[in-house]
Amino acid sequence: MSRTRVGKTRVMTLGLALLVTLVFNCGIVHGKTWIVGDKGGWDLNEDMEKWPQGKYFKAGDVLVFNSKEAYHVLVVNESDYINCNFFGKAKIYKSGHDRIRLVKGGNYFISDGPEWCGYGMRIAVNAE
Ligand SMILES: *[C@@H]1O[C@H](CO)[C@@H](O)[C@H](O)[C@H]1NC(C)=O
Repeated sequence: MSRTRVGKTRVMTLGLALLVTLVFNCGIVHGKTWIVGDKGGWDLNEDMEKWPQGKYFKAGDVLVFNSKEAYHVLVVNESDYINCNFFGKAKIYKSGHDRIRLVKGGNYFISDGPEWCGYGMRIAVNAE
């Protein structure tokens, strides 16, 4: 009876180890997940533009834009980013908890509030 129990525990431990290994490996394959703005999220009160500083991003990494107010996230090109042009042909994310995968090179995200992008609610991320 007790021998059977030990056997089961061992099998479960092995299974768990396998699962952990799988999850870990998938994490490497699919890249890292970043929470934009960390605890504050995608928000007007954060110093958004500075958030990417000192971070090393790779293509395939995922940025999570959490926003209590469901502030939109617009994926734009560099010039629209610099000029805060949210009238362009941007891809818009509106859910308040959007996940966006980084492509190689420059990735530009802005808010579409009239003043918000100018206020600093935008980020530029370079992915290797
Ligand atoms: C950036 O996108 C806008 C549309 O939103 C377009 O008018 C502009 O030509 C683009 N700029 C570049 C450099 O591709």
